[in-house]
Amino acid sequence: MKPTRVVEFMEKMEPNSVAVFAGAHEIKRNHDTDFEFRQDTDFYYLTRLNEPDCVAVLAPSHPEHKYVLFVRPRIREEEIWTGTRAGVEGAISQHGADAAYEINKLSDVLPKYLQNVEKLYYRLGNDEHFDQKIIASIKHVREKVRGGVYAPTVIIDPGTLLHEMRLRKSEGDLNSLRRAVAISAEGHIAAMKHCKPGMYEYELEAIIEYVFRRNGATGVGYPSIVGSGFNSTILHYNTNQCQIKDGDLVLIDAGAEYNLFSGDITRAFPANGKFTRAQQAIYEAVLNANKEVIKMVKPGESFMKLHEKAVEVVSEELLRLGLVAGSRAEVVEKESYKKFFMHRTGHWLGMDVHDVGRYKVGDDWRKLEPGMVFTVEPGIYIAEGTEGVPEEYFNIGVRIEDDVLVTETGFEVLTAMTPKEVKDVEATMKESVMIAV
Ligand code: GLY
Ligand code: MN
Ligand code: MN
Repeated sequence: MKPTRVVEFMEKMEPNSVAVFAGAHEIKRNHDTDFEFRQDTDFYYLTRLNEPDCVAVLAPSHPEHKYVLFVRPRIREEEIWTGTRAGVEGAISQHGADAAYEINKLSDVLPKYLQNVEKLYYRLGNDEHFDQKIIASIKHVREKVRGGVYAPTVIIDPGTLLHEMRLRKSEGDLNSLRRAVAISAEGHIAAMKHCKPGMYEYELEAIIEYVFRRNGATGVGYPSIVGSGFNSTILHYNTNQCQIKDGDLVLIDAGAEYNLFSGDITRAFPANGKFTRAQQAIYEAVLNANKEVIKMVKPGESFMKLHEKAVEVVSEELLRLGLVAGSRAEVVEKESYKKFFMHRTGHWLGMDVHDVGRYKVGDDWRKLEPGMVFTVEPGIYIAEGTEGVPEEYFNIGVRIEDDVLVTETGFEVLTAMTPKEVKDVEATMKESVMIAV
């Protein structure tokens, strides 16, 4: 049986077209050691084939070979080292291909599937090496023009169809995503319970990622951010090397990956379990923005309006705290809030943490639809020495990030189990435990 998404994609393709998708390769980390393999997301979404060096061809107008896979050959000597492969037979029997070839036959065989086809779906720019193979295949077909064949004249980005599919999560997608999010939440809760001044940021990172793996996640969806004190004000800090001091605020942005779906949660908490007045003031300002934005989520709402709401609330809060001057309209207009809130409020979430899908359709910002999932993550970051800011606010970086599903009637906060109110964060931190190893 062909994978469901392959069938769905083929139904959306233009007449007389072929689509080619390349899987990911092993990538060298250093000397003879590779990074952990991560399949190309589009490729996995369609094929569910989680092996390196594969290519999928979708040719709905081909009389027999509508779904073709190129895969690594089964070589016993190599399988001993790196594990069993599907191979050509498995590509057909386990993965539903109508025909399959060894990947080293690609240059010879691929042009045959591009003959007398007008349109080619292929995403240029993802993999330069593979782009060259596509160009060579097209050229190969063109060179046979005197024999009465023609090559594709139009190249279409398959993202125009596929990323629209990925943007709207199916029940199956949501099952995986909910699991990724639940495991992510467990990791954050464990970090809150274990945090003590004097620990190192990497210790919290280790606890979070231990909890991820312990619960069946394949790992992280992106490098975990564990920043204490000044580091909490660095948006993508992930060296996680510093010692956490008494009085520091700790910001953790971490998400587990499960079945190639990623959670994406940020929480901030006081290292010693009790917010200072200034920490709490900033925290509640961000929390207010987070909650006000989430309340707006429903089908038909504009994605841009959510960011505008966050900007309004953060600006209002910064004014109240005396950190910016003027009227709210001026703070928004002159963008003086950007000194403290310099990123956007959210992004699509799915198999990629910054998931695919357009934010604008034509000239208009996307309207939300049931099944879409995105993050709501306003923040305020105040580094030491920030001009015009009282010292008590120095080194406070707060981002509060939830993952939100658009439902038929409104929203569901998938991350709702992660403590967020000040009292809940402080109460969780009191439940101090040690992970048994
Ligand atoms: N973890 C990256 C982000 O929140 O966008
Ligand atoms: Mn995010
Ligand atoms: Mn995040």
